[in-house]
Amino acid sequence: MAGTYTELVMEHFKNPKNMGQMEDADGKGEVGNASCGDVMTVYIKVKGDRVADIKFQTFGCVAAVATSSMVTELAKGKTLDEAMKITRADVAEKLGGLPPIKMHCSNLAADALHAAIEDYRKKASE
Ligand code: FES
Repeated sequence: MAGTYTELVMEHFKNPKNMGQMEDADGKGEVGNASCGDVMTVYIKVKGDRVADIKFQTFGCVAAVATSSMVTELAKGKTLDEAMKITRADVAEKLGGLPPIKMHCSNLAADALHAAIEDYRKKASE
């Protein structure tokens, strides 16, 4: 039901920011949502401890696409520590809220971002 989404959610769904693949990513995080089977991948490029570039691919619902788009906007330019602190609540709040039954969809975005940073850190320490 589109009517339960805020206009901002629909805007990010129709015109997602930073959507696509990144061939030369420094970190990649892939997460699946056990409750619906949707999958999201986040790619990051790191420069001087900051998220210099970020892209996402989501196979999921309206809320999953919108939260992915928003999380990439929030993370871009932030230090890795700051990006690690972005929560699903931050993402939902920035979108003007999500219908309660759709809150689980916002898990994907924050989790995939954090997984991408952890992947980068693991590789960097090897
Ligand atoms: Fe699967 Fe929303 S229903 S992420």
